[in-house]
Amino acid sequence: LRYAPLEGPALADLTRRPLAVQIPVGGAIPDNPTIRAAADELQKGLSSLSGRQVSLMKGHDAETRADHAIIRLHCARSEIAAGGAFSIRQSSRGLDILASEPIGCLYGSFSLLRALSEGMRLSDIGRSEAPRYPLRMLNHWDNPDGSVERGYAGSSIFDWWKLPDHLDQWMIDYARANASIGINGVVVNNVNASAMMLEPRYIARLKRLADAWRPYGIRVYLSARFSAPRDIGGLETADPFDPRVAAWWKDKADEIYAAIPDFGGFLVKANSEGQPGPGDYGRTHADGANMLAHALGPRGTVIWRAFVYSEHDEADRARQAFAEFAPLDGQFADNVILQVKNGPIDFQPREPFHPLFGAMPDTRVMLETQITKEYLGFSTHLAFLAPMWKEVLDAPTGHGKTVAEAIAPAGMAGVANIGSDRNWSGSHFDQANWYAFGRLAWDPSLSAEQLAREWAAQTWSREEGFVADISAMMLGSREIVADYMTPLGLAHLMATGHHYGPAPWVCDLPRPEWNPCYYHRADRQGIGFDRTPGGSNALADYAPIAAARWADPDRMDSRYLLWFHHLPWDWTFPDGTSLWQTLVQRYDAGVAGVAQMQQVWAGHEGEIDARRHADVADFLKIQRREAQWWRDASIAYWQSLNSLPLPDGTRPPA
Ligand code: GCU
Repeated sequence: LRYAPLEGPALADLTRRPLAVQIPVGGAIPDNPTIRAAADELQKGLSSLSGRQVSLMKGHDAETRADHAIIRLHCARSEIAAGGAFSIRQSSRGLDILASEPIGCLYGSFSLLRALSEGMRLSDIGRSEAPRYPLRMLNHWDNPDGSVERGYAGSSIFDWWKLPDHLDQWMIDYARANASIGINGVVVNNVNASAMMLEPRYIARLKRLADAWRPYGIRVYLSARFSAPRDIGGLETADPFDPRVAAWWKDKADEIYAAIPDFGGFLVKANSEGQPGPGDYGRTHADGANMLAHALGPRGTVIWRAFVYSEHDEADRARQAFAEFAPLDGQFADNVILQVKNGPIDFQPREPFHPLFGAMPDTRVMLETQITKEYLGFSTHLAFLAPMWKEVLDAPTGHGKTVAEAIAPAGMAGVANIGSDRNWSGSHFDQANWYAFGRLAWDPSLSAEQLAREWAAQTWSREEGFVADISAMMLGSREIVADYMTPLGLAHLMATGHHYGPAPWVCDLPRPEWNPCYYHRADRQGIGFDRTPGGSNALADYAPIAAARWADPDRMDSRYLLWFHHLPWDWTFPDGTSLWQTLVQRYDAGVAGVAQMQQVWAGHEGEIDARRHADVADFLKIQRREAQWWRDASIAYWQSLNSLPLPDGTRPPA
């Protein structure tokens, strides 16, 4: 939304004639707040891009201004699909944005502004788009006290203390940013939910947000604590089969809908990491979800999370969600969606796709990604996550669909990385992950490269040399992090609790799967988690075609090797290099990669504003030091087990 002034041919093209934005006349349309938002955004954006004040005109006023190029909004064209679709077409008067609903006009306006911001000429722009998924959601893990679970961008942006009396402009800018990338749902509170959020005083506050965001096409949702009937409802039970419990939730839903008629629904984390759930009463996840679904009725959706693991499953944590949920396929009510994390463990720098994708054909399944970088160096390490999400979206599940196809009836959720920091996301480059998440939820076929280029051009500079270098740097950044933290398919070696920095040596925590040693299984002989039939057999949770891709260590993508196989240190790759040698090379490549990013960034000093350039340079310095820390600590620990010398040619650079 920077709308940095254009230059050169793009500016000449935009300023050939005076510009006006035409608001439709007739019916209720001119007063529609969404169309108003679209027109305001066009006026703001075009004025800034062109360096000239752009006027807003009503239909008939505009017709008389033959000298003007006119951007016309047509927001009730039945030939365009519903649900946010739009078409942008050249016209004799300038350019038309067509949609069947106001929200399509808003999305079309943002699309036009994006194209111009990237440097395209007004007279070259034409496109028709429709969102691929119905749900494109942010999940905030924000607590009512202002703290944010796994948040690295300051405190919560939701000021519950001043709501509902005061609504900060910040909340409008937040909605604009979301709408500009197609996000249409927001869960405002942490999945580890406080029941307090369901109390009348919070419903009144939420109503104020819902009213403010409605023009931007954003529906609000709440994380619901399953034990709320007990916590705040005066009942002694939360058993979903108890009629008093069901009645309590129904009344609660009615109360919320009276305040917020388009309330989206509930997100629920149940029977996971100590959260209450139907399992506390011997009921299944489907029993719990369906009771809530009934309370909402056709008004809303229950989004039930599949992220479960408990101390009872010591064999392989990666299998637990599949074991609990796959047998429930077909048992969920129509207005229930199952939200599944991208991989079977927990947002690691690399995981194979979750085996539940494609495996529940009679359940609507949604993909949960984590935009905040809990396991990828928080906000100081630069890691552009689109390549990681694309890896999952493009993966063929083996059940006849890719992951992107399997989630089509639902959509994508992203755990937000947004906070009170002036740059919104904790670092300048982490804005790119918020951006890419929204764009992929709109269109999962977009390439990571296109997203990096779009974002870099709008955020920093349109100079082709800059965009080419910076987008290339972004595209390699996640692999670099995977290399210096968890190469070759290793996972969860971060220090316990906060998950920052290496601690593969930790092995004495009470629950086995809290320990990094549970995941790497390294000893004197070898390293890796055996998930073949001889081990935990997690491979069996995948469709045979998918499992076959990872079954043979000699013929698989080595980036997943130690996720699926436990191998001796002297095991050799088909090219003859040993596992140990390759592992050390990967760590080295990770550290060298950060040094390379530093160089690329330093090479563009002076091309963008000094303050933001310095911010990024500082963070890259931190990342460089910590990449080295990850590599050196990890290698030293593996050496303490295998007593092997550093392979030739892998001496750490000074
Ligand atoms: C991770 C994360 C927790 C979070 C959980 C979840 O385990 O560390 O903070 O609550 O995921 O997704 O529910």
